[in-house]
Amino acid sequence: MENEKRIEEIIYGYPAEKRFSLAIMQDIQREFNYIPRNAMETISEYLLIPLSKLYGMATFYKALSLNPKGKYIIKVCDGTACHIRSSMVIVSELEKILGIKVGEITPDGLFSIETVNCVGACALAPVMVINGEYHGKLTPQDIAGIINMYKEGEVNE
Ligand code: FES
Repeated sequence: MENEKRIEEIIYGYPAEKRFSLAIMQDIQREFNYIPRNAMETISEYLLIPLSKLYGMATFYKALSLNPKGKYIIKVCDGTACHIRSSMVIVSELEKILGIKVGEITPDGLFSIETVNCVGACALAPVMVINGEYHGKLTPQDIAGIINMYKEGEVNE
């Protein structure tokens, strides 16, 4: 069971009232970058909310994720402008360098990759956004350097 103690601390820190379900899920999301299944089960039992209803909420709110995500979430734009400028080549390069596929997380928990619709910076196509930071006019040759920058930042943190 993943980080059970910390999950319980967060959940039981709230009064057992249904209206706190979203706040609890947001706290867990902040801490783990996603909401593990055991957390959903504990919330369901504690607040007496059916698991299906909680899953419905977690799917509805874009800020909540039910799948593990990396500390650095790499969003590669696959909107039209980026797509015609070979965004999928950028995705392949990321997958090669990180050894994971879209939707997966690196074993050290640092990176995950996803593809998204237009991020509103078409003039910079192809674009990827890492934790809100935009990287534009990308070529496959740029990718290793950008990833290393985040890794080095991690070491110096
Ligand atoms: S299509 Fe990628 S930023 Fe608009």
